Amino acid sequence: MQILQGKKILLGISGGIAAYKTPELVRRLKDKGADVRVVMTEGAKAFITPLTLQAVSANAVSDSLLDTQAELAMGHIELAKWADFILIAPATADIMAKIAAGLANDLLTTLCLATAAPIAIAPAMNQQMWHNSATQNNFNTLSTWGYTFFGPGTGEQACGDVGLGRMLDVDELVDLTCQKISTFDNNEPNTLTEQPLKGQKWLITAGPTREAIDPVRYISNHSSGKMGFAIASAAQQLGADVTIISGPVSITTPSHCRKVSIISATDMHQQAMDLAPEANIFVACAAVADYRIDNIASEKIKKSHNTMQLNLIKNPDIVADIAALSNKPFTVGFAAETQDVEHYARGKLARKNLDMIAANNVASAGQGFNSDNNALTVFTTDDEKVLPLASKSELAKQLVLHIQQKFENSLKS
Ligand code: PMT
Repeated sequence: MQILQGKKILLGISGGIAAYKTPELVRRLKDKGADVRVVMTEGAKAFITPLTLQAVSANAVSDSLLDTQAELAMGHIELAKWADFILIAPATADIMAKIAAGLANDLLTTLCLATAAPIAIAPAMNQQMWHNSATQNNFNTLSTWGYTFFGPGTGEQACGDVGLGRMLDVDELVDLTCQKISTFDNNEPNTLTEQPLKGQKWLITAGPTREAIDPVRYISNHSSGKMGFAIASAAQQLGADVTIISGPVSITTPSHCRKVSIISATDMHQQAMDLAPEANIFVACAAVADYRIDNIASEKIKKSHNTMQLNLIKNPDIVADIAALSNKPFTVGFAAETQDVEHYARGKLARKNLDMIAANNVASAGQGFNSDNNALTVFTTDDEKVLPLASKSELAKQLVLHIQQKFENSLKS
């Protein structure tokens, strides 16, 4: 059977140059068995004609909220109920802002309010517009409300700029749509009603550590804590009792999660070793400094020389020490890599004796350290799962469910 057989996909097209890719997108979704209906904004029609989309989808294209004939054929509420899944591609900054504001002044925005179907947004805009605080606020609002983001991708843009904001390629959008639809076909839990992690204790490290040089200086890294806190929030929403051991961060602790604040790797190691025996699952998302200063100066070091040498000694490996406990929790590490991601991640999985490792390429623009988005490849000794670029909150939900599944399997074996 084709993977999208019988699925009703509503494709919302807004007015960006990437709209020229949508006939191919419709064709590819139909190839996988989906029934596709298209809704266009006025802006979209400046880039591609409804006739083209009608021809490739084999369905009438809807473009107006106030068209009596169209409402007679399939009214906007019927259309909202018809869809199993709504994909908005390309999604301009304007359509994201309208949806985030709860507007319903055209057919597409009205459908977003009127539907119970999951909605995915594939942004497409100039990189400066994507990074603008207004767009980032709308992105965060929509992610919090449960909208899924497919991209944006990075690269050369129609305007000549290079950066984040390109609509993902048609192949990627089709793959992500299939993955998203298969998660609810596989009964991904509704977090509002189901609590599959109830009774489990999750311990999660997050953020950076700081290694003091003297009373005013330290060595650290760019971790913001966003990835670890998103995992904590997702696990908590699915019913787990969650404790976060966090280095210094400036983000809010997710509700109903306990936070233990630490500064250095040695502090984090001690807290983790104390708390881990109680935990069912340990996720090491923190960016722990591998080395600390051998002799921390008790007074501020003076700039008396042109060069200076710091003696560093290795910090304890927290995740490896947890994995070595006789009563160890199911132990998940992270691997932050800039090259040969799979090779290094698999090396850490084996060397640290982990149950699972989530690898991210921290050299790719628009993901990893201090970004709102990330992409992961999750390895166990016998398989791997790709979690493509998405908001950290969306990615965390997928990761937590994957950990839960592997954890349950480990209890059976
Ligand atoms: O915090 P954000 O800004 O959201 O960024 C997220 C992130 C990039 C920090 C996160 O996704 C991530 O990759 N975290 C792991 C960072 C890291 O230190 O990776 P590593 O490859 O150097 O370490 C491998 C594993 O060993 C990690 O699980 C790490 O927590 C652990 N480790 C490392 C050293 C040490 N002394 N003790 C450890 O437990």
